[in-house]
Amino acid sequence: MRLGVNIDHVATVRQARRTFEPSPVFAALIVQQAGADQITLHLREDRRHIQDRDLELIKELVILPVNLEMAPVEEMRSIALRVKPDRVTLVPEKREEITTEGGLDVAGMKGYLREYIEPFKSVGIEVSLFIDPEESQVRASAEVGADAIELHTGTYANLWNEHRFEEAEVEIERLKRAGELAKELGMKVYAGHGLTYQNVKGVLELSGIIEELNIGHSIIANSVIFGLERAVKEMLNLMRGEDNG
Ligand code: PXP
Repeated sequence: MRLGVNIDHVATVRQARRTFEPSPVFAALIVQQAGADQITLHLREDRRHIQDRDLELIKELVILPVNLEMAPVEEMRSIALRVKPDRVTLVPEKREEITTEGGLDVAGMKGYLREYIEPFKSVGIEVSLFIDPEESQVRASAEVGADAIELHTGTYANLWNEHRFEEAEVEIERLKRAGELAKELGMKVYAGHGLTYQNVKGVLELSGIIEELNIGHSIIANSVIFGLERAVKEMLNLMRGEDNG
């Protein structure tokens, strides 16, 4: 399976101070250097983390494919058509939510999405729809012309985190069925949301079906922990006039 790393929360830390660090652009280059397959980022309508300029610089400087998550609204479509990421992933967005809570209700907005997606297809930007693992949503995604679906793994992840392993296994079966159907209908299958170093293994069982995972929060959270000791030592060295090299 390929790994797309979602770097939004690097920008979340920066926006906590409205300053210049840490830079999601720098982070994207490190993710690339570390061997990941894709940079994923979500330009939210409220700009709570990633800013327009981050997207532009990442598209310009990063060689890896860029996957832009966005709400299916006119403002985002015109930004995406101008910046031209390799893929857009359409997600539902509510201002008051902490993170993307459920999948997009594709079945409930087929006419709108069919028209919304069209310009991306004509300029060769891949369109993926972030959906819950439900048959009706998979079928609707194929009907509106999506190239791919990204299955929402949040329910699985929450069940696993609460140690409700039998229910988590049932959810893996749902993800499997939805993924198989999507493949039969000619779409690519990706997955993500809420995956951690602990719960990812259940999803890895679906490696013949799911070709890519997008993981953000857990990787960025761990990078703070892995990097903290070095960061403290470098500050102490500066304070003591010692060489950091
Ligand atoms: N995939 C999609 C479509 C998302 O919206 C998100 C969160 O922005 C992710 C993957 C990554 O989720 P997490 O940060 O929980 O790993």
